[in-house]
Amino acid sequence: MIKVLLCGACGKMGGNVLELLKNDSEATVVCGVDLYPREIGVPVYKQFSSVTEEVDVIIDFSSPINLRERLEFAKTRGAGIVLASTGFSESDLSLVSEYEKSVAIFKTANLSLGVNLMQALCKAAAQVLGEAFDVEIIERHHNLKKDAPSGTALMLAESVNEAFGGEKKYVYGREGIVGARENSEIGIHAVRGGTIVGEHEVMFAGEDEVITITHSAASKRVFASGAIRAAKFLIGKPAGRYEMKDILN
Ligand SMILES: NC(=O)c1ccc[n+]([C@@H]2O[C@H](COP(=O)([O-])OP(=O)(O)OC[C@H]3O[C@@H](n4cnc5c(N)ncnc54)[C@H](O)[C@@H]3O)[C@@H](O)[C@H]2O)c1
Repeated sequence: MIKVLLCGACGKMGGNVLELLKNDSEATVVCGVDLYPREIGVPVYKQFSSVTEEVDVIIDFSSPINLRERLEFAKTRGAGIVLASTGFSESDLSLVSEYEKSVAIFKTANLSLGVNLMQALCKAAAQVLGEAFDVEIIERHHNLKKDAPSGTALMLAESVNEAFGGEKKYVYGREGIVGARENSEIGIHAVRGGTIVGEHEVMFAGEDEVITITHSAASKRVFASGAIRAAKFLIGKPAGRYEMKDILN
């Protein structure tokens, strides 16, 4: 049985992973770490230094806070880590690059198969449509989401930008007398409201025609099951950085 430590165990995603793993024959949650521990049926610690259980892999749905602590724990325990949290800063990302030399790290801003296919579709569309079409990305999430724009919106922007040799610059929302839209822009807009699980729309607006590629998640379970799949994938893998396309391939 694969022993899973759930970081962010008391949050919404943590709850979804815990629920799915209750009926899993290959993996089980041995404990959790959460800044605000509460009773969830497995031991939950406030910090990694208190964890006594044996751990094979960490599934992290928490936040960028204390990132080093969870990476260091993975390193000393020889465990893999699925970094599913979003909102990481540049210095957080450098830390991840430092630790991927000694830890098997699976990192993606979006664990759904559909969004990963959407990335490829957006890149292909940008390659065909080229500079004649303006690209704008609109993401919609529930009113409790802490980071904006979503990590997925940024991931989609990167895929589009790859088709332009990385030359596009991101413009986050627009306000005031911003003037005509420049061709070098990719607009990124974050909408927040109600209980929307996650919607991403990439719009290619050209002369007299608009193409949109859209993905909509109907429940958080899709991300939880993606994280479990990633955790199982990491078992026995050498140190390094892994992402969805490594599983899909
Ligand atoms: N990669 C994906 O596909 C994907 C999908 C959904 C959510 N997410 C990300 O997962 C994260 C969690 O989402 P959620 O909806 O469950 O949020 P949430 O606020 O419901 O839960 C987060 C939990 O983590 C805990 N926490 C925060 N920082 C912590 C830390 N440093 N150490 C330990 N525990 C900590 C909080 O106390 C809370 O219980 C967010 O960053 C979200 O964007 C990613």
